Amino acid sequence: MTGLLQEIEEAGDLQGAVDLLHERCEDYSWIGIYLVEGGDLVLGPWRGPQATEHVRIPVGQGVCGAAAASGKTEIVDDVNADPRYLACFPSTRSEIVVPIAHEGRVVGEIDIDSDRPAAFGEDDRVFLERVAELLAPLCAP
Ligand code: SME
Repeated sequence: MTGLLQEIEEAGDLQGAVDLLHERCEDYSWIGIYLVEGGDLVLGPWRGPQATEHVRIPVGQGVCGAAAASGKTEIVDDVNADPRYLACFPSTRSEIVVPIAHEGRVVGEIDIDSDRPAAFGEDDRVFLERVAELLAPLCAP
């Protein structure tokens, strides 16, 4: 994953990062970056088979809103068993949401849905938290 991190850094923009993650990581079925605007998360660049209707999510709602409120990565092995889950795609089985923090504040997050159950583990968390650090300056207001 080190080579991929370098490529993401070199891409230097959010859409480039999303595209690289989608192309290289087989289980990452849908990837979006939400940006914090006031009390909401607003969908920015995304890549996947379909658009989501959840283009604005209040902080505190859904798995996305929980991660933004706590500043901590959320891993959901079975989205259908998590009452917080806001459904986007019928094929989604698991999800990871990684906050993007800049100067001590959550400014956005990386949201990834997988069609495979329990697709996300510690390796994904560590890798995506590094990606979030790289993207933080690009998400700063
Ligand atoms: N599932 C998310 C909503 C965003 S979609 O996955 C693109 C949630 O529960 O917050």
